Amino acid sequence: MKSLIRPASPPDAADVCAVHCSDISHWRAWDASGDARPARYADLTPYQRWLNGGPWLDPGLCRRHLQRVAEGGGHAWVAEYKGRALAEAEAFLADEPPPYGRNLNLSALYVHRHFRGQGLGSALLAAALAFAQEQGCHTLTVSRPDAPAFYAAHGLRPGPRWGHWQLPARRSRVRYTIDPLPDTGYSLVRGFAQLVGRFQNAGHDWERARPGGAPDFPEWRGVRLDRSWMTVRGQRAAVVLEESPRAPGAAEAFVFAPPGVALTGQWVSAIGDHAARSGFTHVNLFVPAPIAHPHARRLEDTQRVMWKVVSGW
Ligand SMILES: CC(C)(COP(=O)(O)OP(=O)(O)OC[C@H]1O[C@@H](n2cnc3c(N)ncnc32)[C@H](O)[C@@H]1OP(=O)(O)O)[C@@H](O)C(=O)NCCC(=O)NCCS
Repeated sequence: MKSLIRPASPPDAADVCAVHCSDISHWRAWDASGDARPARYADLTPYQRWLNGGPWLDPGLCRRHLQRVAEGGGHAWVAEYKGRALAEAEAFLADEPPPYGRNLNLSALYVHRHFRGQGLGSALLAAALAFAQEQGCHTLTVSRPDAPAFYAAHGLRPGPRWGHWQLPARRSRVRYTIDPLPDTGYSLVRGFAQLVGRFQNAGHDWERARPGGAPDFPEWRGVRLDRSWMTVRGQRAAVVLEESPRAPGAAEAFVFAPPGVALTGQWVSAIGDHAARSGFTHVNLFVPAPIAHPHARRLEDTQRVMWKVVSGW
């Protein structure tokens, strides 16, 4: 199918929403205790639609999401056929030390269920690859590949594996200092390594973990976001602790550090101590190597990045 690949903008929200909704065969509603029951799309609030799979599943939220992607330095494209967007892709640029380097991470790629297998997904992936080349990227990654065989068929290879760990937030004797972290764009940590919480890439995760990064649902008011510069043994990193709305009291950690800083046991203890002082009960660390800490326990979530080298170092 010969489609037009073009940048997506907020007026595409209704089509983009239809693309993502086509992937959901059974809609669900969750009650306050977290139990789900089958539901009809029309009966769901925007918040309940979001819980089914993110901001794309409600036209209003999708519009706001497309706006935020653009404001946060992201890029979105659609594949249009006969005036209708039938597929959508999103990606963010980041500048990180090796092994990712200057990186374009494809954070979403969806084709409307009725139009799969006709080349639209391949056309969007090719557009993202061409954009990565144009932007001088070293790598193109898909950090959460739901269709690994599709990406393998396009030359992406398995890359680093990231795993999720949880620690009780508790006081420690490690000395560290805390300073306020300003709420500014990604340029503040451009070039830094993302030691913890690289669910997508440093540019994308930085934007996501800023105030206002998540929708303003009444259900999420009061969810804590703790942002600080943390200095351990003379080395400084930006540390963000974001409370999980689904597990109140647990903080998801994001750590951005200049090249050469490693996530040592001291850093882990300092983060756990800071989390405890900030009122969290647990801290989750999504990292590329096992956490050697006596109280760390592994969570189920593991992901294998898929990547392609776009240009040499
Ligand atoms: C995966 C997806 C984006 C592919 O897009 P598409 O338009 O259906 O794919 P194309 O028509 O461009 O297919 C290109 C090739 O990939 C193959 N392919 C498509 N989907 C595949 C999949 N899930 N697994 C393996 N191969 C797949 C096709 O058979 C085709 O191979 P061929 O050219 O040798 O026949 C699309 O099927 C989709 O939206 N899936 C659901 C959402 C999803 O999983 N997205 C990935 C998020 S990381």
